[in-house]
Amino acid sequence: MPSLDSDYPRYLATKRTVDDRAVNERVLRRLATELSGRDRLRVLNLGAGIGGAIERLIERDVFPADAEISCALVDVREANVRAARERLPEWARSQGYTVSELADDPDPDSAFDLDSDSDPGSDGDGRDGERDGGSPRIRIETGTREIDLRILVADAFSVIEEGEWDLLVGQAFLDLFDLDEALPALLTALAPGGDCYFPITFDGGTVFEPAIEAVPRDRLERAFHDHIDRNGGDPYAGRPLLTRLPRENAEVVAAGSSDWVIHGRDGTYPDEEATFLGFIVDTVADSLAEDRESNLASDALADWRERRHEAIETGELVYVAHQLDVLANYQ
Ligand SMILES: C[S@@+](CC[C@H](N)C(=O)[O-])C[C@H]1O[C@@H](n2cnc3c(N)ncnc32)[C@H](O)[C@@H]1O
Repeated sequence: MPSLDSDYPRYLATKRTVDDRAVNERVLRRLATELSGRDRLRVLNLGAGIGGAIERLIERDVFPADAEISCALVDVREANVRAARERLPEWARSQGYTVSELADDPDPDSAFDLDSDSDPGSDGDGRDGERDGGSPRIRIETGTREIDLRILVADAFSVIEEGEWDLLVGQAFLDLFDLDEALPALLTALAPGGDCYFPITFDGGTVFEPAIEAVPRDRLERAFHDHIDRNGGDPYAGRPLLTRLPRENAEVVAAGSSDWVIHGRDGTYPDEEATFLGFIVDTVADSLAEDRESNLASDALADWRERRHEAIETGELVYVAHQLDVLANYQ
């Protein structure tokens, strides 16, 4: 059974169709309008995972045509970066782009320098010296569009000290941190007039159906959200963004919900969403089982996990997570 710890890239791959359905199209179109007319766009994707957010922005034509576009995708997990480097060229070809590898050297015009720690094939993750299949820098192009992508292992909070960006993208990212600390720091990376786009920001709703009496849904939800809170995240990160961003000189220009809603049809789920649900059920059950303060009896939790997996098998499990997409312009 895969787990988030052992196979995070797989979790992110299974999440792609769920996010695509959930993302708020109105907010996305407003982002396209905000960016239109720019002739240069420097994009920093924080906690990029395997690159799903950038793929979607390109697929849905959010970046302006004919602009000089460079995107840096950064993630602290080496396995994610390795997967992104392998996946993005293949994805780009499937979208009709030609793909070329660029020199690994720092680009004098880029917003920050590559440092030697950014190669996931040469650090202490058990693959020392082994170069992964993907390149840290690629250019994807069609007749009308050219986009440079740099895919790096880096801590978002270090990268932001090294350059100035026109667009920050943090998908399913801000809820991992204390907003009061993270937000002011991240916004310093934006050039005046730059935009920040935070889609799929968790906003405190975790719903599983059908009901299981031994673990009442409000108790489970509260215990899970408390667990996130105790572990440094913010289970209600979406709504405070609407008041915190303006305080940091970032005007919210669009916001809307982007809830994950998963239900079976004819006993199955689309794409890889049954596997995605398995990851979610195990993540919730594992986190509460390990959490002494969760107050949920271990046998009830074990039973909850087993019955949720059975419901995935039969296509009966329904899962809803409440999230917000927020777009702001930095003055
Ligand atoms: C929930 S995942 C979302 C991944 C991706 N944005 C997506 O939506 O598919 C959060 C990501 O943030 C990364 N992350 C966590 N802390 C980070 C940090 N300080 N700097 C960079 N990445 C970080 C994790 O490794 C993980 O890939």
